[in-house]
Order: sequence, then structure tokens, then C-alpha cells
Amino acid sequence: MNNKLIIAFPGNETLTNTISRELEIPGGEIDVRHFPDGESYVRLVNDVNDKEVIVVATLHYPNDKFLPLLFLLQLLRDSRARKITLVAPYLAYMRQDKQFKPGEAITSNYFSKLITPYIDHLITVDPHLHRIHSMAELYAIPATVLHAADLISDYVRHSIVSPVLIGPDSESEQWVSAVAFRAQAPYLVLEKHRHGERSVDISVPQVDRYRHHTPVLIDDIISTARTMIETVEHLKITGMRPPVCIGVHAVFSDQSFSDLVNAGPSKIVTCNTIPHPSNAIDLSSLIVETLRKS
Ligand code: R5P
Repeated sequence: MNNKLIIAFPGNETLTNTISRELEIPGGEIDVRHFPDGESYVRLVNDVNDKEVIVVATLHYPNDKFLPLLFLLQLLRDSRARKITLVAPYLAYMRQDKQFKPGEAITSNYFSKLITPYIDHLITVDPHLHRIHSMAELYAIPATVLHAADLISDYVRHSIVSPVLIGPDSESEQWVSAVAFRAQAPYLVLEKHRHGERSVDISVPQVDRYRHHTPVLIDDIISTARTMIETVEHLKITGMRPPVCIGVHAVFSDQSFSDLVNAGPSKIVTCNTIPHPSNAIDLSSLIVETLRKS
């Protein structure tokens, strides 16, 4: 691993240090900040000539990060890095993958086209692939998709008594069924109707047979948390126990985390693809194993 270097984009130090330690890849040093006029300053301290450089940059709230990240990636190219791998545990702009209304920008396409020329390999975790079924449809470079399902299953199996897994919508069935299979737990998938960015309805589930189980809500992204909140509220009405809410990506916009806490779940648990106090499922081993093989 001597010819490699790993760089934490600001905010990604914890995960980067874990990967660096596990793979014995030295950590690089960068200085990324804003000038008083808001423009970005980027400096690379290390010599990267002929090295494989791994940049760890999770991409929630991507707009502010994107330009300095591109500057860093271009700087690595200009400094003759042999290969540039971007580890983006949360990959931005995966949700607007079609025109819902005439005239809308399909930003998943635009974003992939913007970033692809700057990297040689992309590694991400459970990107929002619903209508698009493979990253190859979007990314013209090798893109490795890692899945949190097995580690979520292990968490459910070891930490939750008598679980029944609940997916809030049909899109969630893919990972809820996978988690349920390995956790050897039953699962339900509900129906969700989204009326706007901050408004969703969830159908009341057929829960009578699971009244004495612990409901475990599982979703890929928790953003406004409206999906989780509506589901928690509906479960309350049915008289089920307060659920455990599990999300892969803790985006948590604005006040959504405290709104979800106030809805009354017994626990909120997320994976560490985005640093957040709710992180309790460590996915670093998935990334380490992938990088070990690459
Ligand atoms: C939707 O397709 C996703 O799987 C999530 O259900 C959604 O992103 C959650 O968003 P929010 O937290 O804003 O309800």
C-alpha cells in the first residue's frame, strides 16, 4: 500500500483514519477553505506523483462541496496521480433521475457527467438506484456499489428482540427483504404517497399479527424524515410498539432529526456513510475490503 495515499475531504476524517489504519495507507494533507469572497482555496501538501490517491468525500449537501472537490481532483491529476479513487459513501444527485414535470433537469445525469472526467473509480454505498438499475447507466467509469444490508441485518439480529422489519414504500422492498432474510425476521412493505418535498402519506399497515414484535423501519435515505415520521405516527395509531428507525444515509435536513425524535420512535440508528450522532452501524469494513482488492 506504499504507493497509495488517502485524503480526507473536510468532514470525512473519522472514516478516512479508519481506512488508513486498516490498510496501512498513509494519510495525505490538504488545506481546503474559502477566501473572504467565498471562492475556494485548495492546497495539496503531499507529492502524489505516480501514486494511487483515494479521496474520501461523502456528498450530502453537495453544492458547497462540489467545486472545491473538483479543484482537488484536478489538482491531483495535474500533480500526476496515477489513479484517483473517489470514495463517496453517500452519492449526491441520485434522486432526480427522470422528468417528473416537463422542463425539469435530470440532475442524476448531469452530476455524473460533471464528476466522471475527474476520477478513475467511484466507490459508494447504496446509491438511490430505483428507476436506474445499474451505475453503469450513469457512470462511464468503474463504479463499485456497496450494500449496507448485511451489516444492518447483523445489527437487527444482535440488538433487537423479536423484530418485524417494515419498509415505508415499495422502493424500500429491495433492501428490507434482504435485511429480513439475513436477520431471519418477517417483513412488511407499506404504501407511500408523496404529495410534495415535505409531505407524504403512508398507508396503515396490516399489523395485527405483529403487535408483540418490535417494528423496525428501514429506509435508505432519511432526508426530511417525513417518510419515517408518517410511518411512526401510523404505527402508533395501530397500537404497535414504538419502532426502531434505521436509515442507511443520515442526511437529516433542517430540524428533521429532532422532528423524528419527537415522533417517538424507541431509537434512531443510521450507518456511518454521513457523520451524525445517530451513527451506530459501522460500514468501514465494506470500504476497506473493496479498497484492499482494488
Ligand atoms: C425515497 O424514494 C427514499 O427511499 C426515501 O424514502 C426518501 O428519500 C426519504 O425521504 P424523506 O426523509 O424526505 O421522507
